[in-house]
Amino acid sequence: YKSIALLTSGGDSPGMNPAIRGIVRAALNSGIENVYGIQRGYSGLIAGDIQKLSSRSVTNIVQRGGTMLKSARCLEFKDPATRAKAAKILHDKGIEALIVIGGDGSMTGAHLLTEETGIPVIGLPGTIDNDIPGSDDTIGFDTAVNTALEAIDKIRDTALSHERLFLVEVMGRNSGFIATQVGIACGAELVVVPEYEFDLHDLCVALAEQRASGQGSSGIIVIAEGKDPGLTSRIAYQLEEQGQDPKICILGHIQRGGSPSGHDRMLASCLGASAVQYLLAGYNDIMVGLRQGAVIDIPLRRVISEKKTLDQNIFDITTLLHK
Ligand code: F6P
Repeated sequence: YKSIALLTSGGDSPGMNPAIRGIVRAALNSGIENVYGIQRGYSGLIAGDIQKLSSRSVTNIVQRGGTMLKSARCLEFKDPATRAKAAKILHDKGIEALIVIGGDGSMTGAHLLTEETGIPVIGLPGTIDNDIPGSDDTIGFDTAVNTALEAIDKIRDTALSHERLFLVEVMGRNSGFIATQVGIACGAELVVVPEYEFDLHDLCVALAEQRASGQGSSGIIVIAEGKDPGLTSRIAYQLEEQGQDPKICILGHIQRGGSPSGHDRMLASCLGASAVQYLLAGYNDIMVGLRQGAVIDIPLRRVISEKKTLDQNIFDITTLLHK
């Protein structure tokens, strides 16, 4: 390849910048002459918002959150006519292949683009949700978990001082990976995820026992946003009926920002550089991910048709650790 392009798409995640750096540097150091950065994901591609990147354009970004290329969710890309337009824009610029960093919607766009237009594509899993099948880990998940933990540790201080219960809602779209990892690591009294049932009853009994022994009840309940809209308020209401005074804290987009953790910088750099190696080795229509510590490739068709399971044994641990 002489010319390739890359873009970041969907919700941003900490580690997208080191992934961009990994791709740009590995490509230029492997003899690819032109590396183009596309702004604002697929939206920027169809608008032709494409600039050449040099090795120096990606200096000093390895430690930065967000994405220097900006990101967007592009609904128009669901239309085959838009994908044909995108292919023409790439073709007219002499761009021969595309690397896409993003979540499941972005992987779907990449797969359809190559299937319909023949432009080689490689995907990289970039999302805080960790919900991409085929890869044990996604770029940004570790940082998001640590950001949520830092916030919850602070909430725990005030929960203890005031003997108060907190319901903390975390992101994750339809999956409970963030909630489970955060719940175990912060010592949550209860973790609620979309994948499995939960039981408020045991928690209510424990809280009543605490109160009977003269102590106020304090604790943290971690709730994944995707379980059921409005569930956090309904749980709060049920707890109020039990005489509790629960407070709700929705962590929201704080989980998407911040400097990527060491783990995410390493993951993103390795996957970025590997994406270039796979491309040069002739691979197409794959995602490059991580399994059991090794870089692997997975057909994009599988990535977009399967669902990643939250291990039940791991989730069950959340119910075994309370007092
Ligand atoms: O996919 C990442 C994510 O942060 C999800 O956890 C969340 O449901 C969604 O994006 C929020 O998207 P937006 O920022 O577009 O509202």
